[in-house]
Amino acid sequence: MLPRRLLVLSAAILCVSAQYTLAPALQAAQEFSNNPTAGDAPPTTNAQNLTDVATIIRTVTLVDQKSGAPADDTPPGLPQAPTMLTALDGEIIVSAVDGLNSTDTGPGRRSASDYGLVFNGTEANDAAIQGTAYLTYTLVSNNSAAQGLDECLDFCDNTPGCVFVNIYYEFNNELLDFVFPQKSNLRCVAYGDVHTASEKANQQLSPLPSEATNIQHSSGYTSALKEPAVPEGYELVFGPISAANNAPGYMGFAFLSKYNPSACAKLCNERGPDASGGACKYFNIWRALVYGLPTTYICAMYSATTDASTALNTGQGPLSVTRSRGYARISYIADGGFEAYSCPDGGDFCFAETAPGWNGTSAPGGYFDATVFHYASYAHTGAGVALLGCAFGSDGQMGTLTTTGPLRGLKRGRMYAVQFFYSSTYSGAELEKNAFVEVWWNGALVGSVPVGFSPWTYFAVSVVAVGGGYDVLQLKGGEAPAYSFIDDVYLFLL
Ligand SMILES: *[C@@H]1O[C@H](CO)[C@@H](O)[C@H](O)[C@H]1NC(C)=O
Ligand SMILES: *[C@@H]1O[C@H](CO)[C@@H](O)[C@H](O)[C@H]1NC(C)=O
Ligand SMILES: *[C@@H]1O[C@H](CO)[C@@H](O)[C@H](O)[C@H]1NC(C)=O
Ligand SMILES: *[C@@H]1O[C@H](CO)[C@@H](O)[C@H](O)[C@H]1NC(C)=O
Ligand SMILES: *[C@@H]1O[C@H](CO)[C@@H](O)[C@H](O)[C@H]1NC(C)=O
Repeated sequence: MLPRRLLVLSAAILCVSAQYTLAPALQAAQEFSNNPTAGDAPPTTNAQNLTDVATIIRTVTLVDQKSGAPADDTPPGLPQAPTMLTALDGEIIVSAVDGLNSTDTGPGRRSASDYGLVFNGTEANDAAIQGTAYLTYTLVSNNSAAQGLDECLDFCDNTPGCVFVNIYYEFNNELLDFVFPQKSNLRCVAYGDVHTASEKANQQLSPLPSEATNIQHSSGYTSALKEPAVPEGYELVFGPISAANNAPGYMGFAFLSKYNPSACAKLCNERGPDASGGACKYFNIWRALVYGLPTTYICAMYSATTDASTALNTGQGPLSVTRSRGYARISYIADGGFEAYSCPDGGDFCFAETAPGWNGTSAPGGYFDATVFHYASYAHTGAGVALLGCAFGSDGQMGTLTTTGPLRGLKRGRMYAVQFFYSSTYSGAELEKNAFVEVWWNGALVGSVPVGFSPWTYFAVSVVAVGGGYDVLQLKGGEAPAYSFIDDVYLFLL
């Protein structure tokens, strides 16, 4: 035992290329005794990337998401199209947000008495709405106005996400008169947003030729807005309010064809990680009004969680922010940042084998091979950080850091991502060349970081939960002096 310990220590001391020659516990103790505020230094990796409001506003002026019922031979009663992307990071694109089904906008079931008239149509020269969040249309009975309206509100009730209908007679349209089986000229058009009479398009100028297609009695009815379903794996942080976040950790934005938090959550989950901030952990969805008219639905993504205190953007010029909600991604690891571990006297430096939610263990013959430090100089963010490798440098055994207490809220059979940042630079390139970190899930090796010297780097691996509080995460590695630090561990639903 003793010769080995001496060997390791002398190897560490002899290596001239090393960043530190003392083991992490001794190094920190020495720095701390020389300067008790050494651990205070805020990490320098926290670049502040604020929301790019200018690009969002510029892109709002470029998209056209307004429509009515299609004029072509699209038959009535089709299921609505999925939520579409209409822009991504300032580029106009059109593509479906894959894998979402239309019920993700929330069930629409309600009673017809919940609807109110927004605007009443006119006898002649009327027009249909051209508005955002068009869902689908149908043809309803034109035997009596009351019966048609009843059928139309029923249709809205059964169309997920429907909050508004535009109902109107369309004369001289062959498709309605002769082709579609309903043989009715009373159109019922469902929307996922409320529109007003000022959004009637192509108001026809009179007099029209008697055979021209023309629209009469175009009215709008709306139901009370429902709180959208909270996306799985997220929690509502604030909203709805009329201000959008302007916050650090901004990762970009997308425009959506509908106000659909689940679609925004999916984009956040699939967003590539930021090199210093890691994965998307928060999104802000809001509706842009331009001159008071709904124009698009914005999904802004962030690698850091924020709240209503940074919701300072209420709009600019003709653009106003409405229905802004913030949602944070739930991490199922209690304290993946090791910030709950603090020093007894509120001090800046201490370390231990056990910390809230974590337990460090050593192999037989090893000592303090997996520890949690409260020392900002070692941390990726904040002051807490985990160390794999003997804190005293006195043995070359690998350490194991294990979650303690059940990981609550995991669902059996669902896939989750374990994510963290690791750093293996402590002893310098030569002594860190075999540094490794292994991720074990429920007793099985599920991933390893690339072996060797590495500055703070993001790592992620997916795992399947057994649920019921039985899942266990372990991080193994560090054969001193090949130390690895680990910080910002998250466990997210995929
Ligand atoms: C659509 O979503 C609903 C609600 O989450 C679910 O019950 C249904 O099975 C899904 N349908 C498909 C085809 O995925
Ligand atoms: C809408 O206008 C029509 C006449 O165009 C009228 O008969 C009807 O009562 C009005 N409906 C409502 C709810 O005001
Ligand atoms: C009802 O719709 C049919 C088919 O478009 C049309 O021929 C008929 O004139 C309509 N009736 C009324 C009262 O508008
Ligand atoms: C800020 O943005 C730059 C460039 O996209 C990126 O390299 C950096 O990691 C970002 N920082 C944070 C904290 O998100
Ligand atoms: C930590 O792990 C050791 C070894 O398995 C065990 O004896 C100890 O009770 C654990 N401590 C906690 C707080 O779980």
